[in-house]
Amino acid sequence: MNKPKDEPGLQTILSHCGRNLEASGGYVNVPPYEGSTIIHDDMDDLFGRVDNHLYGDGTARTYGTDGGPTHEAFYEAMNKLEGGVGTWAFSTGLAGCTIPMMAFLKTGDHMLVTDSVYGPTRQFCEVLLKNFGVEAEFYGPTIGAGIEGLIRPNTRLIYMESPGTHTFEMQDVPAIAAVARRHGVVTMIDNTYATPINFQPLKHGVDVVVHSATKYICGHSDVLMSTVTCNEKTWKQVRAVCKMTGQYASAQSVYLGLRGLHTLKVRLDAVGAHTRKVVDWLLKREEVKKVIWPAYEKDPGYPIYKRDFAGPIGLFAFQFQDYFTDVQINRFMDSLKLFGLGYSWGGFESLILRSYGKRTVGDPKIMRTMIRVYIGLEDPQDMINDLDQAMTKMRDA
Ligand SMILES: Cc1ncc(COP(=O)(O)O)c(C=O)c1O
Repeated sequence: MNKPKDEPGLQTILSHCGRNLEASGGYVNVPPYEGSTIIHDDMDDLFGRVDNHLYGDGTARTYGTDGGPTHEAFYEAMNKLEGGVGTWAFSTGLAGCTIPMMAFLKTGDHMLVTDSVYGPTRQFCEVLLKNFGVEAEFYGPTIGAGIEGLIRPNTRLIYMESPGTHTFEMQDVPAIAAVARRHGVVTMIDNTYATPINFQPLKHGVDVVVHSATKYICGHSDVLMSTVTCNEKTWKQVRAVCKMTGQYASAQSVYLGLRGLHTLKVRLDAVGAHTRKVVDWLLKREEVKKVIWPAYEKDPGYPIYKRDFAGPIGLFAFQFQDYFTDVQINRFMDSLKLFGLGYSWGGFESLILRSYGKRTVGDPKIMRTMIRVYIGLEDPQDMINDLDQAMTKMRDA
């Protein structure tokens, strides 16, 4: 569908989003305004703001934890990109994945969580929510509309992540969201992989979208932060939980988040093109059994990727042939010179990991067979040469 003639293109939106020259004193970006105490004009102002919190919409700023002008600029940008009505930022990605769940769950409730969910989010559901009397049931990520069969009278929340960031199964998010709506169940998604550029879940019927902004949004491996963006139906509940639990991301972090948004698409385009070169090379290697990347035309997730996503992401996995031993594979990993052996992704630098983690619906051993690769902004041929020399050492081990 073509956009209306007077609506700016995505690159223009990204370049200008969050701009507020009044709040910034004329600077392009609103600087990091950090503070705790707000001085009120007089008692009418003080009680007016208090009343807004007690009886009104709760948007009046009374204290530093409400966030300041830098937060507002970043939130406005995220709302625009995701098509949401409200955004809140948290001090880590994991906090953004977990805290908003409390807005919808209470003792005796049942929730459905993708088996491919980010490991620490899984742990929160399996341990902490269980302690509070909430039952988390895990579903196979390719279940699609079949999720209807798992919904119970006490199901309150479905938590998706598409694709999971180790095994990369794409989920039929619109189909799952449609089932949830029919049953009055709230849906949440960890959309970190897609970023707000490649997929906007709220436009496909999801209620709450989370991003670990630590990854692509901040984009330089120097910030921990997340965002939650909500639709009209869920925003007040989520905001109330954020405030009641004292969630706050520093002004410096949200400043860097807003700065990251301005270059997000350019970075994604570059990383996507680099990744395609590396994937094409890996596909030709006899040492490699399988490459798992939703943007690869023969990947099982490709039809959904093609339907829902606007472009590729630089995170994927591959498996070595079964005849390579653990020792050989570790030799490969240890021989890499340019790839960093580290958690995370979405920065400017390439990273690699041997995956691990728990699965209760799918094959529990599958994770250990995955080499997870993140391709950054380096020259792709240098990264290919690095993989090549490490494979030579692996064969000789
Ligand atoms: C998909 C996904 N969600 C959430 C997180 C958590 O983000 P953070 O590391 O900022 O806590 C991660 C981190 O790796 C992730 O990959």
